Amino acid sequence: MPREGLRTLAPELLRQRIDAVTGTLPGAKAVDRHLSDLRGCFADEAAYEAALEGGDELVYSVTTGLEDESEGGLSYGLGVVQPGRVGREYYLTKGHYHAWREAAEVYIGVSGAGGLVLENDEGAEQFVPLGAGELVYVPGATAHRTVNTGDVPFSYVGIYPGQAGHDYASIAEDNFRLVVLAGPDGPVVMNRSDLLDPSPTATIRKAHA
Ligand code: 6PG
Ligand code: NI
Repeated sequence: MPREGLRTLAPELLRQRIDAVTGTLPGAKAVDRHLSDLRGCFADEAAYEAALEGGDELVYSVTTGLEDESEGGLSYGLGVVQPGRVGREYYLTKGHYHAWREAAEVYIGVSGAGGLVLENDEGAEQFVPLGAGELVYVPGATAHRTVNTGDVPFSYVGIYPGQAGHDYASIAEDNFRLVVLAGPDGPVVMNRSDLLDPSPTATIRKAHA
C-alpha cells in the first residue's frame, strides 16, 4: 500500500478485522504452505517422508494485511499454523531472518497456543511461548519461526517494518538450533544436535512453565 493511499486516512485502509472462523483477513489473499514446501525443516526426515506420502497436508497460511513499504512504514500479516506433528516435532513455519537484518517484529497471539523459536548469530537461542492475548518482541538480527504446540489452529499477527523483507536461505542452511517436540507431559525444547546424536547429558526443557 503506497503512502499516498494511506495519506487520505480512509478507514478501509486503516482498519481490518480478523475473521476468527476462517483465520483470514477479509479481502486479503492467503499464501498456503503445505508439507511439501517444508522439506528440510523437520528433524526426523523419515517421519517427514512418511507424512508426505500420507498426503500433502496444509501446515500454515499467511495473509498479508497491509504492506506499507514507505520509509518508516509498517506491514502486518496474520499467520495460522495448523495443529499437527511430523514424528514428535510440532508443525512449524519455515522461519527467516529479515533481509534488512536490523528490522525487529512484534507478534501478538490471537488464538490457540504455540510459540516462537528464536536465534541469532551471536550464539543465543530461545523458545518463547505465545498464547492468545500475549505479545512477543523479536529483536533485530534474530531468526524466527512459529510452532503450534496445541491441538487447535494457532493464529497470530506479526507487525514489522515495511522494508524488512525476508531472508529464508541463511537460516535454512543449518536450520534452527532448537526443536520443539511433544513430550510425555506437553511440549519440550531440545537442541537439534542432541536430538540427532542422543547423549545422556542432553538438556530437555519444558516449553511451558
Ligand atoms: C513476517 C512475519 C510473519 C511470517 C509468518 C510465516 O516477517 O512476515 O514474521 O508474517 O512471515 O509467520 O513464516 P515464514 O515467513 O517463515 O514462512
Ligand atoms: Ni518476520
